[in-house]
Amino acid sequence: MIVPFAAALPEAEVRVALAAIEEILRSGNLVLGRHTETFEAAVAAMAGTHHAVAVNSGSTALEIIFRSLEVSGRAVLVPTNTNYATAAAAGNAGARVQLYDSGLYPDLDDIAARLTPDVAAVVVVHIGGYLSPDLPELARICAHAGVPLIEDAAHAHGAHQAGTPAGGFGLAAAWSFFATKVITTGGEGGALTTNDPDVAAFARRARNQGKDDNGRHIIAGNSWRMTEIGAAIGSAQLEHLTRDVDARREVIDRYAAELASPGLTFPTVAPQGQVSGHKCVTLLGEGIDRTAFRAAVAEHGVALARGVYEQPLHGQPVFAALNVTDAFPSADDFADRHLCLPLWRSMDNETIEQVITAVEAAIGG
Ligand SMILES: Cc1ncc(COP(=O)(O)O)c(C=O)c1O
Repeated sequence: MIVPFAAALPEAEVRVALAAIEEILRSGNLVLGRHTETFEAAVAAMAGTHHAVAVNSGSTALEIIFRSLEVSGRAVLVPTNTNYATAAAAGNAGARVQLYDSGLYPDLDDIAARLTPDVAAVVVVHIGGYLSPDLPELARICAHAGVPLIEDAAHAHGAHQAGTPAGGFGLAAAWSFFATKVITTGGEGGALTTNDPDVAAFARRARNQGKDDNGRHIIAGNSWRMTEIGAAIGSAQLEHLTRDVDARREVIDRYAAELASPGLTFPTVAPQGQVSGHKCVTLLGEGIDRTAFRAAVAEHGVALARGVYEQPLHGQPVFAALNVTDAFPSADDFADRHLCLPLWRSMDNETIEQVITAVEAAIGG
């Protein structure tokens, strides 16, 4: 069994999306129409915010948020355990990226130590769709320092904690609808959510070449729009997000119930909280070699995919000049020890059992 790069959409959603695509193609309204508006309303509902602005990628959503905050020439704190895009977007908006230590969750002490007056924003990333129990405290630390907290929620569709959805902890959140994400808008896509009307208005202009309602270019922008077809594909899935996320959570709970051991631990999720189920993260006990463990699982017919990020940003060649003298022990430990167990939409029972048997055998052996 090989983990698919991206899972197929269920047939019912394919039919809904195809009907919408046909209508869009016959109408000739290919961008910034009613499907984008409908999709944005559903994304705002998911994040519990007043505004959602659909764009062409999660990277774009991040860059627009940073531009709206005028980070140029200032520092943005970015976790080292994240996707390239989190740091690249801040850099593209003109910021000096400063990495902080983070495993699955951010290291609050490290963030606090780096919160100088020069910091224009702090980014937290909900790795794999897990929400840090420290998010309310992080929001308090940022508010106390007068620095906006930005959520990179690219993995976190449908996750929530104590009644607050992902997207509800910071000033704004960026979402990705890339092919592999919990929701995709046809391969590429993104959105930002916020309660701040100024950030939302900035984003609506920035994505459309910086134009105002009269077509004048009043800010620097780009062609960052989502297509109507992408929005319709996304809407077809968003309708079933809660059901889909619940199903993913069931698989995660089952893995944890059957496989947790001193050699394999699972992050705790509060019973009233929810993960997105983008990834099922597990940590190998100290001293267990990940490559050998993977090989043992593969011997039993299950090829595990790579971890979320096995190389944090401070080890990536393109970011070699950042934080060269700093240590990131949590990030290094997490990068070295975590695994992602197979998890995708509509996994069948037989496949789940195959994974459990193979992992059990690898732990036992
Ligand atoms: C944590 C994180 N942030 C941002 C992005 C960028 O999203 P996109 O690929 O839609 O540009 C990704 C995407 O892979 C991601 O995983």
